Amino acid sequence: MSDQPSEKKLPPGDMGLPLLGETLPFAKNPFGFIDERLISHGRTFRTSVLGRKSVVIAGPDAAGQFIDTNDVTRKDSMPPHIQELFGGQSLPLLDGDEHRQRKLAVMRGFTRVALASYIPILQTATEQAFERWTAAGEFTWLPELKRISIEAICTTVIGMKPGAEMDQLCRDYELVTDGFATLPIKLPGTAFSKALEARDRILGVLAGHVRARRHAPTQDGLSRILVPEAGGPSISDEHAVLELHHIVIAGYIVFAELAEIVRRLHDHPGVRRRLAQEIAQLAPAALTLEALTAMPYLLQVVNEIKRLCPVVPAIFGRARHTFSFDGYTIPSGWMVMWAVTPSHNAQGVYTNPELFDPDRFSPERAEDQRHEHAFAPQGAGAPTGHKCPGLDFSTYFMELFTVILVRGYAYDLRANHHELSFAKTPPEPSDGLRATVRRDPGAGAA
Ligand code: HEM
Repeated sequence: MSDQPSEKKLPPGDMGLPLLGETLPFAKNPFGFIDERLISHGRTFRTSVLGRKSVVIAGPDAAGQFIDTNDVTRKDSMPPHIQELFGGQSLPLLDGDEHRQRKLAVMRGFTRVALASYIPILQTATEQAFERWTAAGEFTWLPELKRISIEAICTTVIGMKPGAEMDQLCRDYELVTDGFATLPIKLPGTAFSKALEARDRILGVLAGHVRARRHAPTQDGLSRILVPEAGGPSISDEHAVLELHHIVIAGYIVFAELAEIVRRLHDHPGVRRRLAQEIAQLAPAALTLEALTAMPYLLQVVNEIKRLCPVVPAIFGRARHTFSFDGYTIPSGWMVMWAVTPSHNAQGVYTNPELFDPDRFSPERAEDQRHEHAFAPQGAGAPTGHKCPGLDFSTYFMELFTVILVRGYAYDLRANHHELSFAKTPPEPSDGLRATVRRDPGAGAA
């Protein structure tokens, strides 16, 4: 989509107030901010947020433009406060060979062999969690979904055991993600200051684990990341800590997808019944990667959850030079944000995109094949580019959670849980998902 700018025509939009730009409405609800402006202006608009002149682009063509490294660089692309919370230069901020080398190291923690070894660990943790929830009476499910998401990533990738250290990490990651969706005011007691303190505690814990694995590697993801390919360079301890921090943040946010599974299966009993039939026929008691891969409807449901669930509002890049998109000029140095969820609904290629309809991913309809980048909830392009290395990990974890839920448990949700509050990133069900869970092996087929 890149071409030479023939005229200086900036995208439509408003640069807001002097200095502040449109930072306040953006910080308050970045998802709503982007949605509203895409409705007014179409798939490209300009704004000024967090001290940066910016353009937001959405849709599959925009995804292709965004991953064109001739036009869009990742260097210095993030607003400084977000970069600070990541602790430094991790993968999303790297370009070229430096990025590729680091990416190959991280990907070693998520190979098929590594993922296969994670499945039994994830199954045990998830089944234990369901037993806890069954015994809890009415409870708030969301903090528990956060806890098992942290547990899933920390036990498999870092080899940690549940306990006080992991509970503290869970609390600290909540503070860090609160910091993403706030103004970067570094005064005592502000959400941003608390987020930075939490980040420092986290980096200290992770550094300890990196040192330990360097000296005594095991089978966990971190050991795999630290061990270079034959003859290849080894990732440094400092970089391993940064990448681990990003990996745990990303693993933590899977809680939003788990909450979406709970909400959607509650609202769509027909989908749950079809899942139950497939699971009864094909899922063994002890789940494996092969067994999860052999259930096509399960993958359709998980993909439809991913298509619709808002997790991050946009990903950040920066115009390497002045280029054109959609007939508009994007000036050199401007921040370029590719909006994720709008690219899968209003600005996407799907039929009735607002409907929850897993069959759109069936081989007969294959709506996700309508465009090379039609379905990119975890980024577009090649795995060695900036596409999410946790794509398969999140898919398998979501599938496993769904299988355990559908084949063993029934649940009730309190009324009005459907509203998402967009004050946080990822957005959360406003009542925290008040629920009761009970053992009911026949529940799926009911
Ligand atoms: C369902 C949950 C997840 C969602 C929605 C998600 C989404 C994304 C998105 C949109 C990107 C940006 C792609 C780009 O810049 O083009 C990304 C990158 C990344 N994700 Fe995920 N992710 C998820 C889970 C995970 C998990 C479990 C991990 C653990 C490994 C992970 C690790 C990363 C890393 C390290 C990057 C940076 C990759 C790079 O710049 O090369 N993510 N993810």
